[in-house]
Amino acid sequence: MITLQPINENNIYDVLELKASEDLVAPNSISLAEAFCTLEEVLALGKPHLRDRPFAILHGETIVGFTMVTFEDGRDVNAGADIFWMGRFMIDENHQGKGYGTAAVAALIDIIKTKPDGCDAKYFYTAYVPGNIGAEKAYAANGFEKTGQIFEGEEVVRLVL
Ligand SMILES: CC(C)(COP(=O)(O)OP(=O)(O)OC[C@H]1O[C@@H](n2cnc3c(N)ncnc32)[C@H](O)[C@@H]1OP(=O)(O)O)[C@@H](O)C(=O)NCCC(=O)NCCS
Repeated sequence: MITLQPINENNIYDVLELKASEDLVAPNSISLAEAFCTLEEVLALGKPHLRDRPFAILHGETIVGFTMVTFEDGRDVNAGADIFWMGRFMIDENHQGKGYGTAAVAALIDIIKTKPDGCDAKYFYTAYVPGNIGAEKAYAANGFEKTGQIFEGEEVVRLVL
């Protein structure tokens, strides 16, 4: 069974060991550094709910992946509406193709549907490098549909929550 666990001092070291193609996703070390920097910024703005939310992806007790989602108020890609944006998503190369990615997206949808910190969005967006079939299928299996937009060279997909 796949579960998500917020990044903490116990799982962070295993998450930093995970590997996936850097042509498709940034290293987890960069993502976690970004989350730290963003936290400083949003705390200074008095808007802690806009922080990045990084998660370890577990299969049973084993850490197999990493994802990061952010609530954004007024992102241009959706004409100013509040959205969740999955900015990072990876399954370690030793564990890909076993269905874990598809199950992890479902688990993340369940989390954001709880409206964490009151964050209530109608849409959940993400994007992937065109031709990344694993990502495309994992999103499509969870109801994401192409919007036709290209954001920073990536195909944008959207789920109505
Ligand atoms: C994309 C990724 C997160 C998907 O996770 P995963 O655990 O491998 O995905 P799943 O096992 O749930 O597979 C989903 C579907 O894609 C297919 N698939 C997975 N990897 C594939 C590949 N490299 N080529 C073709 N199809 C692939 C699976 O067969 C499955 O198809 P099915 O539903 O028809 O059976 C993972 O492959 C990964 O980390 N890739 C590198 C980093 C990346 O691309 N991140 C996403 C950035 S948007």
